[in-house]
Amino acid sequence: MTAEKIIIGADHGGFSLKESLKPFLAEMGFAVTDVGTDSDRAADYPDFGAKAAGAVSAGLFQRGILICGSGVGMSIVANRFPRVRAALCLDEETARLSRMHNDANILVLAGRKTDPETARKIVRTWLSTPFEGGRHQRRLDKIREIDLKLNEISNDSGR
Ligand code: RB5
Repeated sequence: MTAEKIIIGADHGGFSLKESLKPFLAEMGFAVTDVGTDSDRAADYPDFGAKAAGAVSAGLFQRGILICGSGVGMSIVANRFPRVRAALCLDEETARLSRMHNDANILVLAGRKTDPETARKIVRTWLSTPFEGGRHQRRLDKIREIDLKLNEISNDSGR
């Protein structure tokens, strides 16, 4: 059986947490693709967020993890991409709900708020919790409709 692929990215605020999570993800059986950054030197979160969220949006990866200092910047970037549902999770409960109710496909972590042990718990819960479907699927369908409408509006304004 081939390992599930997962894509991970961070800015300098998330670099050390990203590095600490990579061996944990490998132990869990994931093939990890790291889009950087590769040091704690200041780096711009949109660069790494766009690489990972773009790959999830394009269907190249089913799931991804993004980390910046607060988790806010990465959330803003990732949720601009069609089909991406990125959830900033500071605890296991939110991680569980983001999968059960929102079918989140990108987990966002706060490198300056979340210690490595808590992050591992959040990641394990997030990766192992299935989407519930049902009424939650109806809500996701509505989000998709919003995306499609916005797309039409931006195509029209370009005429
Ligand atoms: C970088 O200092 C910090 O702004 C970034 O990691 C992130 O928290 C942005 O939302």
